[in-house]
Amino acid sequence: MSRDQLYAMTRSLIAHGQAKTMELADEVVRVPASAYTDPELYAQEKERIFKRLPLMLALSCELRAPGAFKAMEVAGVPVLLTRQADGSIGAFLNMCTHRGNPLAQGSGSANRFMCGYHGWTFRNDGELLGVASPGDFGAIDKAAHCLKRFPVLERAGLIWVTLDPGSKLAIADFLCGYDAMLEHFGFADWHLFDSRQLDGPNWKTTYDGYLDFYHLPVLHANTFGSDFFNRANFFGWGPHQRLSSPSIKAQKTGSTETVDLSAMDEADWPIDALLQGVWTIFPHISIASFYGGGGRGALISQLLPGATVGESVTTQFYVMEHKPTDDAVRQGARDQFDFLKIVVAEEDYATGRRQQQALQSGLMDTVLFGRNERGGQVFHQWVAKLMAANDEELLSIFAAEKVAEAAE
Ligand code: FES
Ligand SMILES: [Fe+2]
Repeated sequence: MSRDQLYAMTRSLIAHGQAKTMELADEVVRVPASAYTDPELYAQEKERIFKRLPLMLALSCELRAPGAFKAMEVAGVPVLLTRQADGSIGAFLNMCTHRGNPLAQGSGSANRFMCGYHGWTFRNDGELLGVASPGDFGAIDKAAHCLKRFPVLERAGLIWVTLDPGSKLAIADFLCGYDAMLEHFGFADWHLFDSRQLDGPNWKTTYDGYLDFYHLPVLHANTFGSDFFNRANFFGWGPHQRLSSPSIKAQKTGSTETVDLSAMDEADWPIDALLQGVWTIFPHISIASFYGGGGRGALISQLLPGATVGESVTTQFYVMEHKPTDDAVRQGARDQFDFLKIVVAEEDYATGRRQQQALQSGLMDTVLFGRNERGGQVFHQWVAKLMAANDEELLSIFAAEKVAEAAE
């Protein structure tokens, strides 16, 4: 099914490539400029988007072996992810149940955590193992003081968590079948080469850029080059979108060369050549694959809300299909990752910050998304729809997507 979808998308991209056309949205869409600048709206977005919907918080390869853990903060919520003894992922509120001190920092390996304040200990499945000086402390029901658990789902080598312990929205339903598409990358077996954090403007200002090929030959003229294609077709699975250039060409497996897919028998199409473009996971992830130095890799960018409406923080993960085995390959991967920092930090985010500052003047009423910018249109429509939905409506929105998906 997902393979059929990949083939159908490729046929469509080839047909548009041959005809020198692209799929256009019906109309030019306006979004209020305040969507990027209103602090109250931003506070609600943190509650209704980031603290209510599943977020892709970690890669499976970050938490490979039992005992691995990662602590992070998301929209003000301290989160602890662990690989439990049975191989499954646990996602917890990173707060000791005594008086709330975060149990773990950073990442590493530990089967149990001792709180650094008074010494209570917890197992990495959240169970409270021991109260310090229990005789002095007084009797409590230990089973009732385990770490608070969040819903979690590991699929396609990626880990989703919903920061609402009582969420009734099944993470699989939220994914709308997109996880089956992402499975084609095989990230579960990939290797994390390196990661870094970058500061950016408002999360939507930033995310718009990931859903946009229109800017490529202009903003990235000095890095990617001015002959880079500025057209993209958009494919959607609920709020999740892939964008890819209409073209007959695709990158050849394991090389920087391109092949003419239109001249090939479909049975010979290499699956990885069908995965080109940018794969976004609503509301905050972008995945782009590369064949540069060091072999096949992908940049997975994870955007999280920042301290104010005008700020966000991005973690860039550079993952590789194969762990580099010699210095030349390692250096090639390093060069690629450094190049991507320049592109994103010095071109995309530097522009985004200037744009953000200008928008914050409050003197522009609306911004525009053209018929060629359907990704941005769809993204903002989904944000508005999900913001407006109460918890029950949220369930029916994704139930309806499931019905639509089954009908395809
Ligand atoms: S806050 Fe953790 S032991 Fe007291
Ligand atoms: Fe860009």
